[in-house]
Amino acid sequence: MIQFRSVTKKYKNDNYALKNINLDIMSGEFVFIVGASGAGKSTLMKLLYNEERPTSGTVTIGGINIANLSNEKVPNLRRCMGIVFQDYKLLQNMSVYDNVAYVIRTLGISSKEINARVSGALKIVGLYDKMNVTPAELSGGEQQRVGIARAIVNGPPLLIADEPTGNLDPKNSMEIMQILDQINQRGITVIVSTHDNAMVDYFRKRVITLDNGEIVRDIQAGTYE
Ligand SMILES: Nc1ncnc2c1ncn2[C@@H]1O[C@H](COP(=O)(O)OP(=O)(O)O)[C@@H](O)[C@H]1O
Ligand SMILES: [Mg+2]
Repeated sequence: MIQFRSVTKKYKNDNYALKNINLDIMSGEFVFIVGASGAGKSTLMKLLYNEERPTSGTVTIGGINIANLSNEKVPNLRRCMGIVFQDYKLLQNMSVYDNVAYVIRTLGISSKEINARVSGALKIVGLYDKMNVTPAELSGGEQQRVGIARAIVNGPPLLIADEPTGNLDPKNSMEIMQILDQINQRGITVIVSTHDNAMVDYFRKRVITLDNGEIVRDIQAGTYE
């Protein structure tokens, strides 16, 4: 499903954030991307959702090289993936329901269909009962669950989560990871960056370790170290 071929990324300050990345991720996999702060995890994720472009090399998703995607095709690409952020990025003045419905309201589907999809996504993350509250009334873990519902509401084949538990305590982190695992079990490819070694050790998924912009380890059913 995803291929990186000889991918480098250099930001303006001349530092290489990624160096010669070669990587294959198959449809249906659950992958942890781990490594110290500054190792290149977020850069790798940003190349996937086209927030950044590689300096050289190709990034292919579903057979399409997205390294030089024209700007008008980026929204199409994003519709095929859900993105979850460390800081949730919720709209504070909107209800949980409206946060989740926001993007699919632009797709020209009926309000009945929107309601069915939003309700379904909120049930998966266990927040159906809180659809009418605003983010400020929720705990951090609940806010991240809204972020996950928003990411999956359109039924994407791929979910990308960049440090989704970075602001959460161990209990909430575990709940979030379990939800991501359940989503993976529905057949969605899930890529999670983290430096939470306890989570990685618990779930025993494929672990790809970045160090200073390079892949230094890539193992199945792995631990953090
Ligand atoms: N927008 C940017 N401009 C310049 N340098 C950046 C930018 N974003 C990240 N970097 C640098 O790229 C390297 C990798 O960063 P990042 O991908 O954010 O790593 P991680 O997510 O693993 O902490 C770091 O040295 C970081 O300082
Ligand atoms: Mg990061």
